[in-house]
Amino acid sequence: MVMLMDTGPPDGGCRTFISCRVDWIRGPQIAGRLRRADAPLFQASPKLVRVVIDRPPPFPEYPLAQSPIADPAAEDAVRARFLQQMRLVPGAVAIVATALGTRRTGLVATAWNSLCADPPMLLACINRRSSAHPIVADARAFSINLLAADHAETVAIFSARRGLDGADRFVPGAWTDGPGGQPLLNDAVAAFECELDDLHDYGTHSILIGRVGAMRSRADAPAMLYLDGGFASAVLAPRD
Ligand SMILES: Cc1cc2nc3c(=O)[nH]c(=O)nc-3n(C[C@H](O)[C@H](O)[C@H](O)COP(=O)(O)O)c2cc1C
Repeated sequence: MVMLMDTGPPDGGCRTFISCRVDWIRGPQIAGRLRRADAPLFQASPKLVRVVIDRPPPFPEYPLAQSPIADPAAEDAVRARFLQQMRLVPGAVAIVATALGTRRTGLVATAWNSLCADPPMLLACINRRSSAHPIVADARAFSINLLAADHAETVAIFSARRGLDGADRFVPGAWTDGPGGQPLLNDAVAAFECELDDLHDYGTHSILIGRVGAMRSRADAPAMLYLDGGFASAVLAPRD
């Protein structure tokens, strides 16, 4: 890769061709530090510095799995590959909770994210057969509660592994209803109360689109992540 930069030295003297390696990339441009290669090539140039960036391939070339979208016989293979590959994608573990009068429940979910900030909206994908689905549809409201790394028991309860259903799932933890009547986990890393703005069915799931109202957060606990079938803790990398 070659970059031309009009960066001649102030004394108007010799400009050079420099063989470089990119060791930092920020944003859309290569704007960071350039390091000279071991055997740089220097040549005179009247005006420009031509930076020859001799960049090593950043990653080994992993084989591209066949993409037989047009081949129905391969559907199972694609599904298996998709599930296997999604194990590599870390998900922030949350409880999607909902309440309408005495009906209340919640489920563990990693398929959620922000949709936009203006207005503040979140989306969550929940199975249409989950016990929360009909309550969300009736209440037109729900909450999303990002768990901390030490909320393993909450995960067990809200993924039906403790045999608790409905309102009983909220008894072991500390929950308080938000102003919109939705359950908010007191010690969630981040809790959002949402009004259901839209609900789209797709296949086995529905996409809940929620307008955020009340929020609560705590910054002293790392969030829980789900990765490769296990749980991890989101720890910040050092910043430079
Ligand atoms: C780590 C993890 C992530 C999950 N993510 C989702 C999700 O995003 N959407 C969903 O519908 N179910 C998800 N589930 C499954 C539900 O939490 C689980 O099936 C739950 O028991 C459904 O609620 P129900 O028992 O009240 O029907 C997840 C489970 C786990 C353990």
